[in-house]
Amino acid sequence: MKILQLNSSARREGSHSTKLADRIVGRLRYADPAATLTVRDLALTPHPVLDEAALGALFTPAEQRTPEQAARVALDDALIAELVAADVLVMGVPMYNFGIPAQLKNWIDAIARAGVTFRYTASGPEGLLRGKRAFVALARGGRYRNTPADTQVPYLRTLLGFVGITDVEFVYAEGLAMGAGAEAQGLADARVQIEALLAPASAAERDAAVEEALAA
Ligand SMILES: Cc1cc2nc3c(=O)[nH]c(=O)nc-3n(C[C@H](O)[C@H](O)[C@H](O)COP(=O)(O)O)c2cc1C
Repeated sequence: MKILQLNSSARREGSHSTKLADRIVGRLRYADPAATLTVRDLALTPHPVLDEAALGALFTPAEQRTPEQAARVALDDALIAELVAADVLVMGVPMYNFGIPAQLKNWIDAIARAGVTFRYTASGPEGLLRGKRAFVALARGGRYRNTPADTQVPYLRTLLGFVGITDVEFVYAEGLAMGAGAEAQGLADARVQIEALLAPASAAERDAAVEEALAA
């Protein structure tokens, strides 16, 4: 199994969404010790915005691109290659101003490539990525799960489905800015969600993991 971990918090230290993504990856590797891991941290290596120059590069045939245009397209190609190679995508996603971080949008603008990750047919769009699973660890200051203000989950589900990733699980850490007690509870709830999704092999391990999650 090949795991791609995508961290999108602007914080390199102390990010709850990254820590929860780490935990999901830990569970996946526990279940499959041979699993390989690629980490793409968008705070460490920010991806450039899809601007006019980038669009021009993408829509110029490869053999006609300038060296600068080829280099710009190559940046997107590298992200696509990482995603295509992965069996499991694990995303850490903070809520910023009721949406996803701009860096994550830049990543999405890079990997959504017509003819490569999706295509349009006479019957509509078709995702070209197959057989992948995704886990999305969400970190929020407030609580928006299952409310109209949660634009992240419908958007990410639609986007991932558009490129063919339909097996998607969301983990919610909410209320993280609502006081120390609410923060601790929100993180403990998220850890319990992870244990429920990726339970350890034995009942004893599961009990220990849940106790650890509740005590943390
Ligand atoms: C610029 C900024 C905007 C934010 N906007 C929201 C928001 O719209 N709704 C919300 O619930 N929390 C919001 N928060 C709180 C974050 O979602 C919360 O701190 C989360 O833990 C950040 O993710 P991280 O810990 O992975 O960095 C915002 C935080 C920042 C820094």
